[in-house]
Amino acid sequence: MRISIEGELRDMRAVWYEDGKVRMLDQKVLPHRVEVVDLEDHHQVAESIRDMTVRGAPAIGVAAAYGMLLACNNHQDLAAAAKELKGTRPTAFDLFFAVDHMLSRIGSGADPVQAADDYANTIVDRCKRIGENGERLIKDGARIMTHCNAGALATVDHGTALAPIREAWRKGKDIFVYVSETRPRLQGMKLTAFELLNEGIPHAIIPDGSSGHFLREGVDIVIVGADRIAANGDFANKIGTYEKAVLAKELGVPFYTAAPLSTFDLSIKRGEDIPIEYRGEDEVLVVDGVRIAPKGCKALNPGFDVTPHRYLSGIITETGVLDPKDVSKSLKGVKL
Ligand code: MRU
Repeated sequence: MRISIEGELRDMRAVWYEDGKVRMLDQKVLPHRVEVVDLEDHHQVAESIRDMTVRGAPAIGVAAAYGMLLACNNHQDLAAAAKELKGTRPTAFDLFFAVDHMLSRIGSGADPVQAADDYANTIVDRCKRIGENGERLIKDGARIMTHCNAGALATVDHGTALAPIREAWRKGKDIFVYVSETRPRLQGMKLTAFELLNEGIPHAIIPDGSSGHFLREGVDIVIVGADRIAANGDFANKIGTYEKAVLAKELGVPFYTAAPLSTFDLSIKRGEDIPIEYRGEDEVLVVDGVRIAPKGCKALNPGFDVTPHRYLSGIITETGVLDPKDVSKSLKGVKL
């Protein structure tokens, strides 16, 4: 991803390993400050996932893979480290996939640095291919809607939902992106808009509640990411995705999710069984350190919702665009 730091454009990843440390862009302080944090043990990596220094399913997975590497370097008990990392956030499947992948690679004698770097590079490569496969769905002149941040920050590089958008722009297509602000953590406004700005891609931030208005005015395609996809094609994504999907179907706008195969949890049959994270009520009641709600009011803060597969036009993956009705069949024999 290209990031402007003090006026200079630099190519960076969201998470990487360098000099025995895990390094990551602090997504809590973007877009106004670009800061890199250094982590020296898996406890710090677990905390960085919990407090959303790193966020977005594939990026969380890569951070956890590097967390397992630090646990190896520090001669820690790997089963305990795996449990601690898996206990940080419940919905994004990549977290569990990455930790199990590292346990299996290390268990079969792989060099832990190589195993974690391979995992990160594979995710980046998968996202690149998602971009190539999804770009074909975007016509010249398209108005595209997205939600939350499913860009390079959420996936280490390229993105899932943002990868086809970047690819369409790089191919010279004339596009415009509606960026839903994504209350309460504002990943759309703070992170997606930041990524699009850095690439020079035309866009506007819209209030979450205005999606129906813009979908009716003329959006050509909606592309969002996914945190976990069940065997029947239902998927969990950032809260607010479900209502966009229902409105898009009502208005005849094609609606896609984009995700690498590491986000598919085929052990879960239907969306209703995906665990949904509830986060603290202060994320809703307090804005930038100022309490807005009346004292004494409570809030409910589900981080994700589940969209049934009937609202999906397709699932954009590194292997192609899957029919959401037939996920298990399409993935039969495919190595996840
Ligand atoms: O709570 P977050 O910011 O970790 O949630 C991330 C999302 O829901 C993203 O929008 C996403 O689509 C999945 S990650 C590419």
